[in-house]
Amino acid sequence: MGTIEVVLGDITTENVDAIVTAANESLMGGGGVDRAVHSAAGPQLAEAGAAIAPCEPGDAMATPAFNLDPPVKHVIHTVGPVWDGGAHGEAETLSSCYRRCLEVADELNVRTIAFPAVATGIYGFPHRQAAQVAVETIRATRTDVEHVRLVAFDQENYDALAAALAAPV
Ligand code: AR6
Repeated sequence: MGTIEVVLGDITTENVDAIVTAANESLMGGGGVDRAVHSAAGPQLAEAGAAIAPCEPGDAMATPAFNLDPPVKHVIHTVGPVWDGGAHGEAETLSSCYRRCLEVADELNVRTIAFPAVATGIYGFPHRQAAQVAVETIRATRTDVEHVRLVAFDQENYDALAAALAAPV
């Protein structure tokens, strides 16, 4: 694994090879970051998503990035767990999201990737715990990706991700 960085901002403006969206199983778009990614990529993204759906929670699937600005070439859609108290495998499913995204990125020769804080919005996953899962999983995954940017959209997620990244390995 290369470098991991935490930034505050809108993932649709990241200069990376691939951006990840927090999707639902239909891959046809929704609210939150998925809405932002679909509006920036254009309607072809939902068509391409529908053609390969369904995507199970914990899995990831790629489509082209369509109207997203270069250098972004791929959108990697991953489906997080719906938070249900924490004893229903939510952390394992979220970990699988990050691992599968990196595996898909490797298949596409992606070197730089940006992740949103998957599952921490509409799906209700607590920010601190989600941040720990994200950082631990990325660190533990063998990948040719050289740079991972964790994009927080709000200060609370930024602080949680920065703390997880600063924690001793
Ligand atoms: N850039 C980066 N992060 C963002 C952006 C953005 N433009 N917009 C929101 N976020 P959510 P989920 C953050 O709800 O919890 C959709 O309807 C947001 O602040 O987007 O996995 C899907 O289709 C939060 O921290 O995804 C599914 O049905 C994080 O992105 C469902 O929501 C994730 O929040 C998935 O829910």
